[in-house]
Amino acid sequence: MPVITCIEDLKRLHRARTPRMFYDYAESGSYTEQTFRENTTDFADIRLRQKVAVDMTNRTTESTMVGLPVKMPVGLAPVGMTGMQHADGEILAAKAAEKFGVPFCLSTMSICSIEDVAENTTKPFMFQLYVMKDQDFLANMIARAKQANCSALVLTLDLQILGQRHKDLKNGLSAPPKLTLPVMMDLATRWRWGLGMLGTKRRSFGNIVGHAKGVGDMSSLSSWTSEQFDPQLDWDKVAKIRDMWGGKLILKGILDAEDARIAADFGADAIVVSNHGGRQLDGALSSIRMLPEIVEAVGDKVEIHLDSGIRSGQDVLKALALGAHATWIGRAFIHGLGAMGEAGVTKALEVIHKELDITMALCGERDVKNIGRHDVLLPQGFSGTYS
Ligand SMILES: Cc1cc2nc3c(=O)[nH]c(=O)nc-3n(C[C@H](O)[C@H](O)[C@H](O)COP(=O)(O)O)c2cc1C
Repeated sequence: MPVITCIEDLKRLHRARTPRMFYDYAESGSYTEQTFRENTTDFADIRLRQKVAVDMTNRTTESTMVGLPVKMPVGLAPVGMTGMQHADGEILAAKAAEKFGVPFCLSTMSICSIEDVAENTTKPFMFQLYVMKDQDFLANMIARAKQANCSALVLTLDLQILGQRHKDLKNGLSAPPKLTLPVMMDLATRWRWGLGMLGTKRRSFGNIVGHAKGVGDMSSLSSWTSEQFDPQLDWDKVAKIRDMWGGKLILKGILDAEDARIAADFGADAIVVSNHGGRQLDGALSSIRMLPEIVEAVGDKVEIHLDSGIRSGQDVLKALALGAHATWIGRAFIHGLGAMGEAGVTKALEVIHKELDITMALCGERDVKNIGRHDVLLPQGFSGTYS
């Protein structure tokens, strides 16, 4: 087994082992990819404050996310088509998260269904909902998440229309892939992936196929999204979904202080400051840059989570230092999954945990819950250069 020391190592293996259309689907942002790039480069601009001669024994990264105990405040974010990065990907990632002690959130657009994941895990996982026009389908999806005993509903608000990602169009992204000549040539060099896929029956959108009526071309994510996602989603509809669900609710995709105020007044258990990993509104500022403004607006009213751009435990520490209560990772665990299946997701979590723990020690922190603004140094105007 190759020596893996960081997420970048997993990313290299992911790229080598997974068909190009699925690697590209993960490793891309919309349009010019400015927001996608800045999500990570803005983290790099934040520096850490070294502290010495502080007792660093008995450190703990344990915390909570919406009241649930976690080994570290890092969840596996909902990622569509995870089961195309590796056969049965959602089941494997959920198992790795469960064993590690962090939350796993299943996407509406997953390959393995809610029931598949529930049958193969022992603890409740979270479910991410996209709001569809078909009310029966929506109600049924919420009922299925309840039936599976999901611990929270993560309602994604920033994707009622798909931000264009050039590579997906050029690659003809679909699940399962259409066997054109270039695709077959690509697959020929990814035999490990192919064997895995031959060994599973889960190769299409498990939450949708067989549950939604009048579904057109389901294999194409972009055409299906434009047909089925509800472009009229507004706060009234969010309220209806909150009432239908009745359990813990996380609102994902908040990037504006005013939206954060509405979400907080609304009684959400948490909000996720997110730009969808740079996949939606290209040109939006990075999540980490928007975080301080949102913390100032609603930090005392609602639990604030952050995603987009986290590739290390140091990034987790930086997000916590700027006021996030917890974080989520997308690509960082997908690279692990594409590289080595469940073992790769575990590796990604181990890498991030170790980086977080060691960085805490070097910053003079023993308890993850004490991490604060005093641990980081920000360049002048970090959050105030734009108005
Ligand atoms: C390939 C891919 C698919 C995604 N699919 C979904 C999805 O189905 N639902 C959702 O709410 N977010 C989705 N996201 C966004 C993630 O939940 C998360 O916000 C993002 O990955 C965080 O950025 P990071 O990848 O830089 O960690 C997806 C992200 C990626 C990379």
